[in-house]
Amino acid sequence: MTRRKLIAGNWKMNGSLSANEALLNALLHDVGRPGCDVAVCVPAPYFSQVQSLVAGSQVALGAQDISAQSHGAFTGEQSAAMLKDFGVRYAIVGHSERRQYHGEIDEIVAAKAAAALANGITPIVCVGETLAERDAGRTEEVVKRQLAAVIHVNGHCISEIVVAYEPVWAIGTGKTATPEQAQGVHAVLRAQLHHAASEHSAAIRLLYGGSMNAANASELLSQPDIDGGLIGGASLKAPDFLQIIGAAR
Ligand code: G3P
Repeated sequence: MTRRKLIAGNWKMNGSLSANEALLNALLHDVGRPGCDVAVCVPAPYFSQVQSLVAGSQVALGAQDISAQSHGAFTGEQSAAMLKDFGVRYAIVGHSERRQYHGEIDEIVAAKAAAALANGITPIVCVGETLAERDAGRTEEVVKRQLAAVIHVNGHCISEIVVAYEPVWAIGTGKTATPEQAQGVHAVLRAQLHHAASEHSAAIRLLYGGSMNAANASELLSQPDIDGGLIGGASLKAPDFLQIIGAAR
């Protein structure tokens, strides 16, 4: 089955009102009618600005996190309903930086994915092994455990998720997984999804993330189970991000 690819930028904690405007103006000027879906996942303080700038364009707004709670005494959190107020379409959940620095364990990631799904926001569920886990031959076990947590909580609506395989050792390091390494893990994830939700699994998009850039995007995106990218550093440079979008057909 043909899956429309998704190229999502993860700006992480970068940006300013002026830098965002310059970046998005450059992106929107040249993005035209892309052959894939495009999103930018921006820091929450800029939702309103970016919502206005991308209005009516082919670029969707995404968040980098979402609360598992609906409202109340959860200082610093943003609920799915708040995200929806700004037209947020995607929310990254379980990014390795959240797992590492904010103690997000599989159960929290699953609850966040469930909160997104319940509110019509597509969760981009991140999974990926550390270098130590890869070296110990535990890649498959780790990504399957991370994905299983989400599948089991949301079995009824699993077809609405996007999965991003981001090997931790490839994030921001300039060290990309080879297309074969990435495809190998994507095939494992696809098989797991098929087992859990055979009727939907072929439609679920599996993104690769980890030092994807203008030079390596085509080869990665030509793999059969790589349905797009979650792009960090290269999404902050309009020409690079545009080249990656152009490579996703
Ligand atoms: O979520 C995207 C990410 O973690 C990859 O970052 O900078 O290696 O493309 P980067």
